[in-house]
Amino acid sequence: MSKTVIITGASSGFGKAMAEKFAAGGWNLILTARRKEKLEDVVANIQKQYGVKVLSLVFDIQNRADVFKYLGNLPTEWQAVDVLVNNAGLALGRDAFQDANLDDWETMIDTNVKGLLYASKAVLPYLTKQEGHIINIGSTAGKEVYKDGNVYCATKHAVDAITKAQRIDLLPLHIKVTSIHPGAVDTDFSLVRFKGDAAKAAAVYAGYTPLSAGDIADTAWYVANLPKHVCINDLVITCTAQGNSTTIHKD
Ligand SMILES: NC(=O)c1ccc[n+]([C@@H]2O[C@H](COP(=O)([O-])OP(=O)(O)OC[C@H]3O[C@@H](n4cnc5c(N)ncnc54)[C@H](OP(=O)(O)O)[C@@H]3O)[C@@H](O)[C@H]2O)c1
Repeated sequence: MSKTVIITGASSGFGKAMAEKFAAGGWNLILTARRKEKLEDVVANIQKQYGVKVLSLVFDIQNRADVFKYLGNLPTEWQAVDVLVNNAGLALGRDAFQDANLDDWETMIDTNVKGLLYASKAVLPYLTKQEGHIINIGSTAGKEVYKDGNVYCATKHAVDAITKAQRIDLLPLHIKVTSIHPGAVDTDFSLVRFKGDAAKAAAVYAGYTPLSAGDIADTAWYVANLPKHVCINDLVITCTAQGNSTTIHKD
């Protein structure tokens, strides 16, 4: 029988690449994001290529009521959820603490931390029935803080801590919990961070070969398809030019 994965933030970047990877492997998909048209494009493309079932849900992960309305009340035929990938997230701004924008801070905290908590809690009854798996997308920013990364780094440190806490608490429920912490990956991430400034975003990935969204999708696929008794707890992945969250060698 086909397995089912929920991927939050599936309208672009890692989420879109993971949706394609899991669909290619025959999994059914529940995909979420705010941008309806982008998500519909992802769904149409997948349905054209792969014979899997896809349920798309459009809502803002910051909105607690909506997260529970959509993810906490899945249609009966969609309730056998094997994997939840908590991927929706963003950075906004790259400013010193003293210059940073409070609204940016709130959006990052509400999305990266509170959204992940709401989604995990809403889906937990389904994961419990399946003895499923939560995969949280952290970041190398959750391993070491970098200059002007203050609150984004804090949210990803929180993802790291929440992952560890979930893993311990959910042991009696036989639910696996994994975090994948990528370094620099060329997606819309920097365009969002720099609020549409394409030159600033491109500069982030200049002078070296960053990871691609497909690399992260391959990693998530590997982690999700291990034997039942094997759990990758914590996986840090960077391109070869990156040594840690603060150090990238540019030629
Ligand atoms: N790219 C990197 O270098 C990198 C490195 C480490 C970790 N990460 C993390 O990886 C995850 C995915 O990022 P990405 O690189 O794939 O960036 P991306 O291409 O900008 O994708 C981000 C996804 O998150 C969704 N999202 C953002 N805010 C949301 C909200 N309030 N409600 C629902 N969905 C929301 C977006 O969909 P909508 O805008 O349509 O809602 C989009 O699908 C994030 O958690 C990010 O922090 C990225």
